[in-house]
Amino acid sequence: MNHPNVAIVGATGAVGVEMLLCLEQRNFPLGKLKLLASARSAGKTMTFRGEEIVVEELTHDSFGDVDIALFSAGGGISLEYGPSAAKAGAVVIDNSSAFRMDADVPLVVPEINPEAAKNRPRNIIANPNCTTIISLMALKPLHEAFGLRSIIASTYQAVSGSGAQGIVELEEQMKAIANDQPFTPKIYPRQIAFNVIPQVDSFTDNGYTKEELKMLNEGRKIMDLPDLRVSCTCVRVPVYRSHSVSITAQFERPVDVEA
Ligand SMILES: NC(=O)c1ccc[n+]([C@@H]2O[C@H](COP(=O)([O-])OP(=O)(O)OC[C@H]3O[C@@H](n4cnc5c(N)ncnc54)[C@H](OP(=O)(O)O)[C@@H]3O)[C@@H](O)[C@H]2O)c1
Repeated sequence: MNHPNVAIVGATGAVGVEMLLCLEQRNFPLGKLKLLASARSAGKTMTFRGEEIVVEELTHDSFGDVDIALFSAGGGISLEYGPSAAKAGAVVIDNSSAFRMDADVPLVVPEINPEAAKNRPRNIIANPNCTTIISLMALKPLHEAFGLRSIIASTYQAVSGSGAQGIVELEEQMKAIANDQPFTPKIYPRQIAFNVIPQVDSFTDNGYTKEELKMLNEGRKIMDLPDLRVSCTCVRVPVYRSHSVSITAQFERPVDVEA
């Protein structure tokens, strides 16, 4: 595919803005670029390679001339509009959790399982959970050398993981505290400024949160290790960007630094 036409769904969001930057910094050889968001953003402009591009409202008819559709507007939007984009002929690359565990959708980290992207019956490729990606990037070469058996992980996740609204909430709470003003948490269940919250996403019946189970379920699928054992604790921390993860891993064979 030479110079594909690319659409970014959710272009105005925290992730969408980074996608735009990434296409620009990598000098991605694209044809046309289409920026899609909600009706709230339609008509706004965003700069790409020095040119102003007008943001359009996402509709089911947005994808007629699109070859690659990068979706990053939440799971509900992906579920509703992803199949329309795929039907119109675009390869959908979805950043949400909507299709990750669908057996007909490959879950791909390019540095780990790029070949999986070739088999995509629904013309949709899913991008994994953020802390799962960074953990597996470190674990994959160790698995190849020693055979991964289990991991215990603790994550320290920035507010950017909750989207642009998470960043605003941290900023507003810090200002309110500095000015001795009252505030009510909106995005998080508790105060996030000058605090840590051991809950990312909602709790499930087994006591783990949905976010914690992503490391287990997505890790097994990407690594093709159905018996991988994972116990994960996800904590939201008051930093704007960049997640951190601490991992203790067990392997089949003795780990040797020289290997
Ligand atoms: N895989 C990863 O590493 C990773 C990391 C972070 C986030 N994510 C996922 O990426 C997605 C976006 O996250 P984010 O942090 O960028 O969120 P965000 O900052 O809240 O941005 C949401 C984007 O979706 C658009 N949107 C919302 N409702 C819409 C609608 N009805 N129609 C069309 N567009 C709509 C928004 O447009 P407006 O500006 O017009 O409202 C905005 O562009 C989420 O699914 C999130 O879970 C993945």
